[in-house]
Amino acid sequence: MKKILTYGTFDLLHEGHIHLLRRAKDLGDYLVVGLSSDSFNEIKNKMTYFPYQSRKMILEAIRYVDLVIEETAWEQKISDVLKYDIDTFVMGDDWEGKFDFLKEYCEVVYLPRTSEVSTTKIKQDLFNQAHA
Ligand code: CTP
Repeated sequence: MKKILTYGTFDLLHEGHIHLLRRAKDLGDYLVVGLSSDSFNEIKNKMTYFPYQSRKMILEAIRYVDLVIEETAWEQKISDVLKYDIDTFVMGDDWEGKFDFLKEYCEVVYLPRTSEVSTTKIKQDLFNQAHA
């Protein structure tokens, strides 16, 4: 069984997220998603609309996702790869090159992002509409 691992915040789920998760799952048989905890998002200066438990419940309902684990620190990636026996680590290409240190432990793949959609853009567009 080929196991895949990816990470993200996945707030206000949109088609870019689904496209990423589908392509990640297509690379193997079992997809693990490391979902950023609320405290880790604070460290990253990211404010989410949905708290961790809601984002987790939504991700778990997606057919491409087999397991959701909590991401609480930048440093956990190597131990997650080993703990979950990961073959391929996947991220969107906004992270190109940033996780190449994992190549010592597994395959590392950066997938092209879906253009013109992001959680930040959704929030900004809604704000602009409300203030138009
Ligand atoms: N992603 C993607 N295409 C998009 C948006 C996100 O492929 N249009 C991917 C990211 O590259 C990442 C994963 O989805 O691998 C989770 O991204 P996340 O940061 O949670 O979503 P964003 O929409 O990028 O959120 P934000 O705008 O808050 O940065």
